[in-house]
Amino acid sequence: MSGYFITLEGIDGSGKTTQAILLEKKLKNLGKKVLLTREPGGVKGAEKIRDLLVQGDTDRWSQVTETLLFFAARRHHLEKCILPSLNSGKLVICDRFTDSTLVYQGRKNVSLINLIKKLSELAIGIEPDLTLIINADPQKSLNRGLKRTSNETRFEMLGLKFQEEAKLRYEALAKNIDRCHIVDGNGGIEETHQLLWKIVSNNLRLQP
Ligand code: TMP
Repeated sequence: MSGYFITLEGIDGSGKTTQAILLEKKLKNLGKKVLLTREPGGVKGAEKIRDLLVQGDTDRWSQVTETLLFFAARRHHLEKCILPSLNSGKLVICDRFTDSTLVYQGRKNVSLINLIKKLSELAIGIEPDLTLIINADPQKSLNRGLKRTSNETRFEMLGLKFQEEAKLRYEALAKNIDRCHIVDGNGGIEETHQLLWKIVSNNLRLQP
């Protein structure tokens, strides 16, 4: 693979999608070949699975079934979009990836965490080169997430405690995995973009 794989992570409403778009723009302005995509989804078949995952009642799936659906969507997205783009030398920015599954489905359940790690190893086989975790206040993020006029609120409906715990799990990932960097997302959009750009430019050895 000759490309470079960046993922953006964070709790619902943290602003990571806005930051992913700004990052894409910045890199394209520097003449880079960039692909911006998202999970769950990114390609037609995986977007269909997305609808099953982000809409409807929170107890619609068991945690294991939900995990398998996320991996089915991920595998399809990987085959159809991520790998071909990386193989053609593109810089791929993905809004969420396997770290989301660890944080949202794995939670503190050791057997689920092991299942996710095994599925990642056996069915996905790649890890991001760089992961940016947008860290924002859970209450403000949740309010922002719920304000959106969308029916994709299945995870937001889990409430504030879930988002607070997800934030802690993201912080734990950043402590344990070198490719994961926390970006303070509590400032304005431009301020957060500058913090994020500092990390990206450093890692890609570009002008800060
Ligand atoms: P999004 O709103 O950032 O597009 O993400 C959709 C929802 O899916 C979000 O609430 C987080 C959740 N999610 C998981 O629970 N596990 C995963 O593996 C992924 C990729 C997303």
